[in-house]
Amino acid sequence: MLLNGATVGFDTANNQAVFIDQTLLPNEYTEISTDDFDEIYNAIKFLKVRGAPAIGVFTAISLAVLVNKSKANKYEELFAELKNYADKFISCRPTAVNLKWATEEMLKAAKECNADNFKEALTQKAIEILEEDIVVCRKIGEYGAEILKDCNSVLTHCNAGRLATVKYGTALSPIYVAKENGHNIKVFADETRPLLQGARLTAFELCEADIDTTVICDNMASFVMKKGLVDAVLVGCDRVALNGDTANKIGTSGVAILAKYYNIPVFVCMPFSTFDKNIKTGDDIIIEMRNGDEIGNMWYEKKMIPQNAKTLNPAFDVTDHSLITAFITEKGVIKPNEIKKYI
Ligand code: MRU
Repeated sequence: MLLNGATVGFDTANNQAVFIDQTLLPNEYTEISTDDFDEIYNAIKFLKVRGAPAIGVFTAISLAVLVNKSKANKYEELFAELKNYADKFISCRPTAVNLKWATEEMLKAAKECNADNFKEALTQKAIEILEEDIVVCRKIGEYGAEILKDCNSVLTHCNAGRLATVKYGTALSPIYVAKENGHNIKVFADETRPLLQGARLTAFELCEADIDTTVICDNMASFVMKKGLVDAVLVGCDRVALNGDTANKIGTSGVAILAKYYNIPVFVCMPFSTFDKNIKTGDDIIIEMRNGDEIGNMWYEKKMIPQNAKTLNPAFDVTDHSLITAFITEKGVIKPNEIKKYI
């Protein structure tokens, strides 16, 4: 196995982008190596690789792999190829800003090159982005473990764990670091309809790490909160506006509204690359709309909604900044009204 515990990787010896096919989890663990544009594009589009930081890193690796294959030898041609791939990737999943961020980092690196060092520089940049993600997520875990030191149990939504990053995760990193420190925090994992990232992925990686995990249906969050079973909500995010409005997996805003009602703190765990300094409020965040078949067909033997019923399938929603207690980042813990001081 090439990945050795990571979620995505760069096999530089064979010039391959490597990923775990997450659509097969929890029943099958399959690593895929590829240098094929369509296979890479579809892996992102169909959530074989998913989670904002992971798709950012994977895009950077993929851009390096695709450029390394190029037959072009003039700078302008190499740059045009890179830009063409970059534009296609950016449109593939529009809400997660990390994808755009990683793409821009690769383009920036390319602008400082000439034809002779182009491929090597992009390979180096992709490796840098991958390694940085590991360091950043570890830091988020350390700050988060400190905040959770009196906490017995948390609720999380979607998967913002190691499967959504290179290692550690964002929202689950504090749980892993706390465990290393001898502090066992229980986790309620919302199943996260329609793609079940909570039930399939969060529960998979937490159980693998021997963490006490309870999967609940999305509509059970209020029940466990009311019973006093949840001390904090920890979620990841895909894009944060300057005022702190936060896009994350559909259903997050409902969880945050419930948490406010029950007086439970909500922590959004994220690398700084998820702040979008070009966006003032959540109203400006583009929400990815996905195929309605994911709601009625995907997990059932037979279609589970009537033929004539329509579906609406937004992949993300925006949680208002007023519902967020703080952001746990690699630079420390930041209140929504402090974001502007940092960027
Ligand atoms: O559609 P997905 O599975 O890519 O959505 C993932 C999420 O919403 C995560 O919570 C978010 O990307 C943060 S991952 C550290």
